[in-house]
Amino acid sequence: MSNLRDDSVSTRQQRGGGGLRAPRFFAALLLTVSLCLGAIMPAAGAEMAEVAIEKMAFVPQVLKIKPGTTVTWVNREKRTNHSVFFEQENLPESDRLFPGETYQRTFEKSGTYPYRCGPHPEMLGVIEVAE
Ligand code: CO
Repeated sequence: MSNLRDDSVSTRQQRGGGGLRAPRFFAALLLTVSLCLGAIMPAAGAEMAEVAIEKMAFVPQVLKIKPGTTVTWVNREKRTNHSVFFEQENLPESDRLFPGETYQRTFEKSGTYPYRCGPHPEMLGVIEVAE
């Protein structure tokens, strides 16, 4: 009697264990893969773009991006400082960017956003935001 009961219990445990092992493995694998992808890929609507400031110019001068993109301006000059000034929107001018320094702005809405450099009014740039 006791032997039979033990056999049935151990059989049930084996079945249960064997049945669960594969799904658990794949669940763990899926979790690992999705965590890795999440670390590599930015979330939707969180794209990044860059405008270099070099040789007294914004490069590219016209940057086309999608809504939700964050633009980073990087001063790549050796000595000259610049700023990013969206004068036509009556926004405050950025701090002066010394070589290596950056400024960021996120554009949520479609539109055309012209800007200039504060100390060099002839330095012009445009951010074009469209789906
Ligand atoms: Co400038």
